[in-house]
Amino acid sequence: MRNPLSLHLRSARLVYDGVPLFENLDAEFAAGRFTCLLGPSGVGKSTLLRAFAGLAEVGPGAVSPELPRVAWMAQDDLLCPWLDALGNVTLGASLRGEKADLAKARDLLAQVGLADRAGAAPHELSGGQRQRVALARTLYEDQDVVLMDEPFAGLDAPTRWRLQELAATLLAGRTVLLVTHDPREALRLGHDIRVLAGRPVKLGPVLSPQGATPRALDDVSLLAMETKLIGEIADGAA
Ligand SMILES: Nc1ncnc2c1ncn2[C@@H]1O[C@H](COP(=O)(O)OP(=O)(O)O)[C@@H](O)[C@H]1O
Ligand SMILES: [Mg+2]
Repeated sequence: MRNPLSLHLRSARLVYDGVPLFENLDAEFAAGRFTCLLGPSGVGKSTLLRAFAGLAEVGPGAVSPELPRVAWMAQDDLLCPWLDALGNVTLGASLRGEKADLAKARDLLAQVGLADRAGAAPHELSGGQRQRVALARTLYEDQDVVLMDEPFAGLDAPTRWRLQELAATLLAGRTVLLVTHDPREALRLGHDIRVLAGRPVKLGPVLSPQGATPRALDDVSLLAMETKLIGEIADGAA
């Protein structure tokens, strides 16, 4: 059984170029749930994720102090061009000087549908396949907290759909923060959805659509929510 942690920020503060991006920002994301973060470009979504990864300095004690190592998946798949798919899945272990668990890595590649591509270099893979390698690498890290920054942006619709399904299934029970610019993706994957707006940034109320994830999106009530979310994101950009 997993014992996931909630994520919180307390009075976070971060100033870029003399203008606060975070000012007295409080935020809490529930344990064991998939939270999707939406908001206009430049609002601070990536910076919020980086704060939880320890990559943005938001003030002493502002980030949950008990936060363990987190798994991170960026929009740019960040695969090492000189390593094959298997080597990329086990990159974290290599960087930490640990012996890689190759059986586990192969099993994860099989789970993302790349059993026969373990020896392929990134340039031999399609964009969707590279993102699947990145997803396998994220899963290899087997962390209770997973941060994903626009992980499926730029993929064609069927590939995105399949990867969303994999992520929902394989990351169930973990505390996941997923940044997306796509309200539909948020409605498909999010137990909770938050919209970020303004500078300094504020988080909107928690929206928790009904139904198990990944949602099929053929429900009219989800369409109404999509329209509402698009409006909120547009207002935040104004
Ligand atoms: N290292 C940095 N130095 C200065 N400004 C930054 C830095 N990182 C981000 N910013 C600024 O902070 C704001 C939020 O950036 P970001 O979190 O990347 O937005 P989002 O992911 O929502 O598009 C933007 O205005 C961006 O230009
Ligand atoms: Mg970003």
